[in-house]
Amino acid sequence: SSKQPAETSPVQESLAPARGLQTGEQLTSAQGVRLPDTDHSLTAGPRGPALLEDFHLREKITHFDHERIPERVVHARGSGAYGTFVAYGNAASVTSAGFLAEKNRETDVFARFSTVLGSRGSADTVRDVRGFAVKFYTDEGNFDLVGNNMPVFFIQDAIKFPDLIHAAKWHPDREIPQAQTAHDTFWDFVSLHTEATHHVFWAMSDRGVPRSYRTMEGFGVHTFRLVNGEGKTSLVKFHWKPVAGVHSLNWEEAQLTAGMDPDFHRRDLADSIDAGLFYEYELGIQVMPDAPVFEGIDLLDPTKLVPEELAPVQAIGRLMLNRNPDNFHAETEQIAFHLGNLVPGIEVTNDPLLQGRLFSYLDTQLSRLGGPNFTQLPVNRPHAPVNDNLRDGMHQSVVHQGIAPYLPNSLAGSEGPVQAGTTSPEARPVPGGGEGYVHLPLPVDGDKVRAHPASFDDHYSQAALFFASLSPIEQDHVVEAFTFELSKCYEQPIRERMLRVLANVDSGLTARVAAGLGLPAPTGKPPAGVTPSPALAQIDGRSWPVA
Ligand code: HEM
Repeated sequence: SSKQPAETSPVQESLAPARGLQTGEQLTSAQGVRLPDTDHSLTAGPRGPALLEDFHLREKITHFDHERIPERVVHARGSGAYGTFVAYGNAASVTSAGFLAEKNRETDVFARFSTVLGSRGSADTVRDVRGFAVKFYTDEGNFDLVGNNMPVFFIQDAIKFPDLIHAAKWHPDREIPQAQTAHDTFWDFVSLHTEATHHVFWAMSDRGVPRSYRTMEGFGVHTFRLVNGEGKTSLVKFHWKPVAGVHSLNWEEAQLTAGMDPDFHRRDLADSIDAGLFYEYELGIQVMPDAPVFEGIDLLDPTKLVPEELAPVQAIGRLMLNRNPDNFHAETEQIAFHLGNLVPGIEVTNDPLLQGRLFSYLDTQLSRLGGPNFTQLPVNRPHAPVNDNLRDGMHQSVVHQGIAPYLPNSLAGSEGPVQAGTTSPEARPVPGGGEGYVHLPLPVDGDKVRAHPASFDDHYSQAALFFASLSPIEQDHVVEAFTFELSKCYEQPIRERMLRVLANVDSGLTARVAAGLGLPAPTGKPPAGVTPSPALAQIDGRSWPVA
């Protein structure tokens, strides 16, 4: 469909002051001094050395020298757009979050799509996982859904994330390859950490080479806990369903495109929006009772999904991306997503991968964005009113008023904030009312241990289910991808180890990949003591492991 972007929106209004900062008609220095000549350094005579007193030369070059900021440690390559999310209203039964619960409520968003492994300048169409991060500027504060285009993850515990990324990014000696999975350290890691198997199958499938960000699903991956207006809780998984359907490139297209147009996905997003052909997705949720295990599936294990046959995805709203950023650096590069940006009605669970992420994002942004005040950058500013009592720090751009940034106090009068659900010493009414974000008072108990639940040891049953769910041509693509990628892994023992992993998933696939690599096909067996969910066998009609 072809539509026109809204002329004015709250996003545009909120950015207007920042846009108005550099609108003088004449070239000036950063200090506002008008400059008659920006092409010649101040020198001692036309052929002499440059003079230290040339404030314009020094300012211009100094600022240029500091134009780059560190790229993201992962997901460095990305592109994004603004849009609008409209709630259908049916989520009110499971969450009190107004932007999801209230029918037809419109919320501004910024979405950023990314590859995980490549550096900022790498190609779009390489085989990789894609990030699908959405910041909702809700009336109750910012909520970030920081997901991927695959519903599961490589590891079960965030403490392994540095290891995973060290293995998956370029080799540290030559910084090769810049942006794909085809190398020794990746296959070494995933064959030694077999919990990665399910995600590796998704990455080797057509999902690893999406045709466009328009034709890509998104997943919150973890299980979240929603709380409704009556305090009733449910566990949910978030899904983005592209209105244009799910479509991929084939491998030859992906490789040729990476060479001919490394900006293929980025260009399509920007050009489509310019042409009024907006990207659209439905947001859906799978709703499960608030219990740790659902149909034999451990909901805290991020390497497991819940098949839609067991919990259908219910659409709760629609997202349209309809405005390009004005400035890549200011908006797309400086946006800061964080799993801990939650609003009332949405809570986290004890998924150990999720728990570590809650620490990592804010921490990395402190160095990537130069200190603690990046929430003041226009793209990160909430559209809800802010009064946080946080003070000072690098790049502070707020001129705070008053002398008492602490609570309670008896000096701020009507200038200072009051805590939600309380009143100030002067008994001022609480602005907006409401309790604010109150964490559910859930009990926490247990010995301090470094361990995981036994259910986390099932590494293969869902990989088998995923492979079995594919059409024959899609299965061929998975076989070809494993064969191609493993052929770029030069250590023979790693190839052989990876074949032994594959044998635990599907013997037919293993035989074909082994033949492609010129190696004998091993046979697999399930690890002792692992009981996969009986519900899975009902879905694909086969016993597990698949022989
Ligand atoms: C960045 C998703 C696991 C650390 C991102 C981004 C996405 C994402 C979409 C890019 C955000 C943007 O566009 O700016 C996921 C998903 C995960 C996962 C879906 C698993 C389910 C982890 C884990 C860690 C981690 C376990 C660390 C313990 C980071 C860091 C960044 C990042 C440090 C860079 C953030 C920045 O510089 O702003 N992740 N991630 N991620 N992720 Fe994750």
